[in-house]
Amino acid sequence: MGPTLAAFGRRSYIAGHVPNGPDHLVRWIVAPAALVPGTLMPAMGVSPDDARDMAAYLLSLE
Ligand code: HEM
Repeated sequence: MGPTLAAFGRRSYIAGHVPNGPDHLVRWIVAPAALVPGTLMPAMGVSPDDARDMAAYLLSLE
């Protein structure tokens, strides 16, 4: 399990390292370890298109 994603739109960093925003969040969802080497979150084969929708949703959470 990962950390809570509640109010993710107000978060400054992704996984404590990467500035939060649409571009970084899409890259994180597609390939977490490419952004934060050694992270425990696995890549799940999410397409960039789907990741864009997921990122938009997460960033809308306040
Ligand atoms: C498409 C599904 C998923 C999405 C959209 C997603 C999204 C995220 C996001 C946005 C974060 C950053 C949280 C933060 O900065 O506090 C995160 C972290 C994390 N996620 Fe996921 N996640 C998904 C699936 C998973 C799965 C299936 C697992 C485990 C089996 C997982 C494990 C983790 C872990 C361990 C972290 C903390 C990473 C770290 O701090 O290095 N995630 N996830």
